[in-house]
Amino acid sequence: MVSSLNHGLIAKRLAGKVAIITGGASGIGASTARLFQKHGANVVIADIQDDLGHAISQDLGPNVNYTHCDVTNDDDVRKTVNHAVATHGSLDIMFNNAGFAGSIYPSIAEMEKEKFEKVLSINVVGAFLGAKHAARVMVPARKGSILFTSSIVSVLCVSPMHAYTASKHAVVGLAKSLGVELGEFGIRVNCISPHGVATPMMKKIFGVEEEGCEDMVARAANLKGVVLKAEDIANAALFLASDESKYVSGLNMVVDGGFSTVNPSLNMVLDQGKA
Ligand SMILES: NC(=O)c1ccc[n+]([C@@H]2O[C@H](COP(=O)([O-])OP(=O)(O)OC[C@H]3O[C@@H](n4cnc5c(N)ncnc54)[C@H](O)[C@@H]3O)[C@@H](O)[C@H]2O)c1
Repeated sequence: MVSSLNHGLIAKRLAGKVAIITGGASGIGASTARLFQKHGANVVIADIQDDLGHAISQDLGPNVNYTHCDVTNDDDVRKTVNHAVATHGSLDIMFNNAGFAGSIYPSIAEMEKEKFEKVLSINVVGAFLGAKHAARVMVPARKGSILFTSSIVSVLCVSPMHAYTASKHAVVGLAKSLGVELGEFGIRVNCISPHGVATPMMKKIFGVEEEGCEDMVARAANLKGVVLKAEDIANAALFLASDESKYVSGLNMVVDGGFSTVNPSLNMVLDQGKA
């Protein structure tokens, strides 16, 4: 059998669907915009990085457009959802992906309240507003897929990033709670929790370039021989956004190569004992 992929053709898994991707101007969001467009979706990239957002939407073609949207601003999010519906007739996929990590603090004692609130505002309030306005138009349509980008830190703690960790736990809680409410209307709600991906966010937190990020993640990884890329998270989003996952709701899909199933502490102690 000759695969259609051999002819450069792909089965379009989101044909005719309309998606909003917050944080779509960079990293995981931009990669997802590219993949969704390739699979036939009309995509609205919603971000605060206007130059980057416009450049990406122009690069991707006429069925992708950019709108300025600060996810912490109720009015911006309302207008973005209304714009998607007015332009394309519906909203099928809301990917609440915009995020902010803040900084790594040596101790909670050094963390200011305003800094903590900023992380929660973007990651949790922003996700809430995206879901709220998406639900407003999806409920009457009795269909839709709402996705959130949480993080590996929703299932384990990797560094003293208390605000970020708390926010990403909250995102999973919001998604599960929302899935209970919206199931009645045929709307599915899921999360994706990636391990480290070398995006501008991660490079900034750890102060290293792409290769340094990937090397760090690879050395700590459970699954060896592969490197986690933004495209891998986009593929998870594609599955959860498409009808292939029609009975999947309330899931926190952890994309970490099994990292969170391993606790190396005992082996480290045993190795030290041997030394
Ligand atoms: N990169 C990783 O290792 C990793 C791991 C786990 C989870 N995540 C999550 O993935 C998501 C995407 O991050 P990324 O790694 O692609 O980083 P990124 O910095 O490349 O992208 C984040 C995007 O969010 C946008 N954004 C920030 N604040 C916003 C606001 N108020 N309104 C609208 N947009 C805003 C930024 O402008 C940026 O385009 C985030 O939620 C992040 O927490 C990333």
